[in-house]
Amino acid sequence: MNDEKVIDEVIQEVTEAAPHISSGLKRRREYVGEENPSGERQMEADVWANELLQELITSIEGVGEFASEENQEIIDCGDGLSVTIDPLDGSSNIPTNNLVGTIVGIYDEELPCKGTNLLAAFYIVYGPLTTLMLARNGIVNEYIVEETSGDQVELHLGSEDIEIPEAKVYGFGGNKHWAEDFREFEAEISKDYKLRYGGAFVGDINQTLHHGGLFGYPMREDAPNGKYRLLFECNPVAYIVEMAGGASTNSEKSILEVKASDIHQRAPFFAGTQDMVSRIEEELRQPQ
Ligand code: F6P
Ligand code: MN
Repeated sequence: MNDEKVIDEVIQEVTEAAPHISSGLKRRREYVGEENPSGERQMEADVWANELLQELITSIEGVGEFASEENQEIIDCGDGLSVTIDPLDGSSNIPTNNLVGTIVGIYDEELPCKGTNLLAAFYIVYGPLTTLMLARNGIVNEYIVEETSGDQVELHLGSEDIEIPEAKVYGFGGNKHWAEDFREFEAEISKDYKLRYGGAFVGDINQTLHHGGLFGYPMREDAPNGKYRLLFECNPVAYIVEMAGGASTNSEKSILEVKASDIHQRAPFFAGTQDMVSRIEEELRQPQ
């Protein structure tokens, strides 16, 4: 199967599962007493969504590798493209009924590899609407996922060829452990931009794409690489933001250029409008 067809199938399988995942969350709100490979507490919903999406994606002909934030190891499925997934991003938001999502990257290289190897990336947001934000072939489109009869879905184009607008909002995670220079930077930009932080990467980056601005999860004093996983979270989201005319950085270079040596490795993450990403790079540049 050619790459475009494989990408079509991955998008189709995940979007068809989306209404089912959204409606299945209400019965899976307890913690299971286990941790994922990053040491985060797993909820029933994390384990369930992972198993469901793993089964669907590994069955696609032309998918060669499958890696999930919830699995220790890469699953080898034969020849083909590599698919990474964060099955339920922001799952700690479920008990408070805030946003969660699914993040997918489709790479043309064996994992772990750089974000420059992405052929397409997308995320689903399970909110008041279920939406698909898709970056592919140089264009970012947002679709509303509507369930029709018989487990089928229709995609309704909501925002076409998204270009990130001039900066209006900002948000950063991990404030209890910021270093002093980052605390000063945040204080400065809070004077000019409106704070928005929802606790789910998909939701926070979605409003950054719509309103313009800067979103990030910086290095922390207790965690120099921050919180987000490079392959499962940072790369797909950075790819979408860059394709929408924005920029991304780990504070030194584009997220997509960060070398990957372990599938679960983390990276400091910032993305948004180009001028704000340049500003944070200048601010956090270490004196030589
Ligand atoms: O996947 C990690 C995640 O759940 C993101 O969706 C979210 O942005 C972040 O963690 C929230 O972290 P914190 O609880 O430190 O604000
Ligand atoms: Mn996540």
